[in-house]
Amino acid sequence: MAAAKPALRAPRGAEHAALLGIGAYRPSRVVPNSELVEAIDSSDEWIQQRSGIRSRRWATPEETVQMMGASAARAALEDAGVDAKQIDCVIVATVTHLVQTPALATMIAHELGTEQAAAFDISAACAGFCHGIALADGMVRAGSAGHVLVIGVERLSDITDLSDRGTAFIFADGAGAAVVGPSDVPGIGPVVWGSDGEQSELIKSRADWRDVLASPEPLMPHLVMQGNPVFRWASFAMAKIGQQALDEAGISADQLDCFVPHQANMRIVDALARSMKLPATVRIARDIAESGNTSAASVPLALARMKADGEARSGDTALFIAFGAGLAYAAQVVVVP
Ligand code: UT7
Repeated sequence: MAAAKPALRAPRGAEHAALLGIGAYRPSRVVPNSELVEAIDSSDEWIQQRSGIRSRRWATPEETVQMMGASAARAALEDAGVDAKQIDCVIVATVTHLVQTPALATMIAHELGTEQAAAFDISAACAGFCHGIALADGMVRAGSAGHVLVIGVERLSDITDLSDRGTAFIFADGAGAAVVGPSDVPGIGPVVWGSDGEQSELIKSRADWRDVLASPEPLMPHLVMQGNPVFRWASFAMAKIGQQALDEAGISADQLDCFVPHQANMRIVDALARSMKLPATVRIARDIAESGNTSAASVPLALARMKADGEARSGDTALFIAFGAGLAYAAQVVVVP
């Protein structure tokens, strides 16, 4: 008689997961609209009216993606009261780590002094941080990690064409991070996420490595964006996704304390809040005015500012929603750490 096949021991995680701490890093150089308008034949007034952006931060050469990501991560670890050695996995969401491999997460994990944590990067553009939170939530509850560091970091100034009217004033630099770990009560609601690859041409790198090599002139793979269709898609389709995330978390708009959407455009922030009929009691993140659009860093940067300003308090419910190139999107309700 053949021996019975051995049954594998299944992983077992925590019953619930939550954000235990958040951190941010804002680059030192403040860039007002006035510095950009000449090259794109624009004005401070137009940029403020159309996007809500007054100024943004650009990184100096020393403020690399590794430096900014690790700085935000240290702030999140301190906020959580968690040591780097307790981190089992580092997830970095970015589109501006300008080498194909190795992953930025491995270098940040090493710099932080984790004990050989698993580390990998994800490419979900502006929705990357919310994708990372969804992965971390699943990992902690499934038992593949005890504590996970999720970092969103970008140096979009490296891949922005400063003579392009459609993008030069929007994109910016920065980093945000969160520690996700076990919790007695649910701290991260079900993720509502997806993609629409049919619209993948709307935001993309204008060149790949072969184009760069074949070009007679130096060619930077800048981001190109058809802003208006993305604007319309984000303002309408994303309100349904936000509502779905509230419904799946069992939270009504009245019970929501904070709304932290991707900081793509102040008019999109307002349109989403209107479409979702968020009551006036909900505090809304408006970090874009001073930070511009920092892609994967925008949601944690915006929450960090709300916490610093006293607009978001520990224990509050907050709706995250982020969307961008892909087109990829993700939303979830979290409890503010
Ligand atoms: O983070 C990833 C997701 N990204 C987004 O969600 C970004 C979404 N898109 C946007 O935020 C907006 O589309 C922009 C802020 C990029 C542009 O605003 P818009 O209201 O969609 O402007 P538009 O492209 O429809 O252009 C309107 C007008 C045009 O002139 P006419 O044809 O009406 O005479 C443009 O030529 O504004 C003109 N224009 C500008 N004028 C001054 C376009 N860019 C500029 C500029 N300065 N920089």
